[in-house]
Amino acid sequence: MTTLLKLEKVASAYGQSKVLWDVDMDIIQGSAIALIGRNGVGKSTLLKTIVGVQKLTGGKITFRDQDVSAASAHGRARAGIGFVPQGRHVFPHLTVMENLTVGLAALTGRKGLTQSGIADHIFDLFPKLTQIRARKAGLLSGGEQQQLALGRALAGQPSLLLLDEPTEGIQPSVVKQIEHALRRIRTELGVTIVIVEQYLDFAWSFAEHYYVMQRGQIVRNGNTKDETAAEIAHLVNI
Ligand SMILES: Nc1ncnc2c1ncn2[C@@H]1O[C@H](COP(=O)(O)OP(=O)(O)O)[C@@H](O)[C@H]1O
Ligand SMILES: [Mg+2]
Repeated sequence: MTTLLKLEKVASAYGQSKVLWDVDMDIIQGSAIALIGRNGVGKSTLLKTIVGVQKLTGGKITFRDQDVSAASAHGRARAGIGFVPQGRHVFPHLTVMENLTVGLAALTGRKGLTQSGIADHIFDLFPKLTQIRARKAGLLSGGEQQQLALGRALAGQPSLLLLDEPTEGIQPSVVKQIEHALRRIRTELGVTIVIVEQYLDFAWSFAEHYYVMQRGQIVRNGNTKDETAAEIAHLVNI
């Protein structure tokens, strides 16, 4: 078992206000991890700190045996860390195709890769994107935007994908499609996935490992097959 991403005593803050402390994580290549916790505990901040859009104020982040603690967000994207932020953040005035093309920036200067446009497997995973490729992203439904945000992250050919509440505010039928695509992204593309997810049942069926956050710290972690979601729920519910 190879460690893909390692966090050691990671800390972060917004100005004077500390948000993360002493976060340790060990993410095994090929695994799926659920990061769970109440609103406001620091889950999004942790993902942003891993991708480098939020400043690391202490500790160390190692990705594929390289210390990336001081690397820029672009440098980490090029190293293979993909991110779908909470709320998706597609570019509303760009078309679907233009949004996907933005994702190719992560390939710039990467060794051993040729940049040959948006790979077919992205349209295969999200057939809807083919139909709406010329539409402005701001006109899409929440589910379509989420598929676009996932497609854009995949265009950068990540080996690690961080997803912040991908099913939030999306209708159940589309949630099923997204779940199905995430499973294929794991099995067919071999991408390691860390997902922040409110629905514990989905977290449990999708991930083999879980981490629970409270007030900026990891308070518990383990294997989803060793415990039920119900046994963990009290750490997550108000
Ligand atoms: N841009 C920001 N500036 C200042 N404080 C923030 C900012 N974003 C989040 N916070 C605060 O940091 C804490 C953690 O937020 P967040 O990481 O979004 O939690 P979660 O994703 O678990 O809901 C909260 O107290 C939140 O109010
Ligand atoms: Mg959040």
